Amino acid sequence: MKILMVCLGNICRSPLAHGILGAMAKAKGLNWTVESAGTSNWHVGHAPDSRSVRAAKKLGYDISSQRGRHFIAAFFDEYDHILVMDRSNFRAVISLATNHQQKAKVELFLADDEVEDPYYDDLLFDPVAQQIEKRCAQLIDKFSK
Ligand code: 4NP
Repeated sequence: MKILMVCLGNICRSPLAHGILGAMAKAKGLNWTVESAGTSNWHVGHAPDSRSVRAAKKLGYDISSQRGRHFIAAFFDEYDHILVMDRSNFRAVISLATNHQQKAKVELFLADDEVEDPYYDDLLFDPVAQQIEKRCAQLIDKFSK
């Protein structure tokens, strides 16, 4: 199983989901690959935002070795599930899909809600990390059935 987490910059939200679901899957002995990317190329090669690194650390996860990547259309065939943090980035990903099979792989990470972009609000990082951790536990059940 290969799962891709996507947000805008790939430095705040998707690195949290990448690190947390990856660690949970590993702890469960699941042979999953969890990775992440951004719909923008602004932070390619950059480490996650220090505020996300700190929020992850508080919950017991180390995301500091991740590096930013840009979402490319080749990822549609590489991953089984592409989970996107908000509707704007969902549209950006879907716009690159060329067939129904590719579109069907794309879902909102929270299914029917958005993970708010914490980039301009320091106080959002801890609640966003907690929201992402809670959803990751649900995703373990959802995708291991
Ligand atoms: P992310 O947050 O999409 O969760 O990684 C952002 C990161 C960077 C910017 C915006 C959102 N930015 O404008 O550079």
